[in-house]
Amino acid sequence: MNKGFWEKLQIPIVGLSPMDGVTDAPMRFIAKKYGQPDVIYTEFVSTDGLWRIEKRGEKTHKIWNELKFDESEHPIVAQLFGSDPDSFYEATKIVAKMGFEGIDINMGCPSPGLEKRGGGAGLMRDKGLAHRVIEAARKGVEDVGLQLPVSVKTRIGSSRPDKEWWKALADEELPVVAMHGRTFKQLYSGEANWEVLREAAEIIKESGALFLGNGDITSVPEFIENYSAGIDGVLIGRKAIGNPWVLRKDGYEPSVEEKLKVALEHARVFEMSLPGNKFEIMRKHLTWYAHGFDGAGGLRRQLVQTNSADEVEKIVYDFLDENK
Ligand SMILES: Cc1cc2nc3c(=O)[nH]c(=O)nc-3n(C[C@H](O)[C@H](O)[C@H](O)COP(=O)(O)O)c2cc1C
Repeated sequence: MNKGFWEKLQIPIVGLSPMDGVTDAPMRFIAKKYGQPDVIYTEFVSTDGLWRIEKRGEKTHKIWNELKFDESEHPIVAQLFGSDPDSFYEATKIVAKMGFEGIDINMGCPSPGLEKRGGGAGLMRDKGLAHRVIEAARKGVEDVGLQLPVSVKTRIGSSRPDKEWWKALADEELPVVAMHGRTFKQLYSGEANWEVLREAAEIIKESGALFLGNGDITSVPEFIENYSAGIDGVLIGRKAIGNPWVLRKDGYEPSVEEKLKVALEHARVFEMSLPGNKFEIMRKHLTWYAHGFDGAGGLRRQLVQTNSADEVEKIVYDFLDENK
């Protein structure tokens, strides 16, 4: 089993969970700088799309932005989605050469269209196809002469916790399985079930895989204290939006001033690394930084109307001056 860089990480492993439209290059840069996670995933990237634009020689397509990363982000894993093994083979060959430490296959995205076509969470319903997709990605890595680990991120099952799915994953002898403690049917409702995750971990870890749990975690100390028994690490998603510090193992909490200065830095990095992208994308991050302190509501109402980092700077420094 090729565990690659995963083998060198200390347990418990803490990672930034992939989030489409959220964990873009600027967010990942800031998450690494202030949260120091052990591992970072890109947003998921379409294997069909990647293969198509590569064939057409489209060098400026927005998909390439999704795969942009800064050297400081290593180790970084590229996450791919799709359902066609040929596309997985070709897309893996493309991303494997870009400098990522690993390739991850999305087998958990609940987007209805994707699921129906057999991709994302749809792969949980077709173990044969899931197997072919994994094999195709492995062959892609091999055929470009590399030895990158191919991992899977999934859910506990399609309509209920599914032991057969966990056994099928164990049979694949994967280096790492990351699992969100909800079913596909649940989407994001209810609570992540960490009891079930522990049961899944028991089965999957027998194959030699590392097991990362995921869902609803609000701090690393909380994970370590309540959920880490039998589980090698955690991926944190939504709580890291506007809050890179949540990825830290020491439970550090920033001051209001630090939060707002990092929000501004994030906006500057956004403008530099994704020039031409609409600033609206940045606004949702800004509003999350402005949470949990007096005056945050009013500040959010201002930040949500900004169109540039310069505007953010003025609002942030006016607020800090007024609240000295
Ligand atoms: C806006 C958004 C986009 C997401 N995109 C992806 C994705 O591209 N790939 C993936 O594997 N999971 C994706 N997820 C799922 C998260 O990685 C994670 O599994 C889920 O949010 C539960 O973890 P959390 O409670 O820590 O957020 C996404 C979640 C959200 C909220």
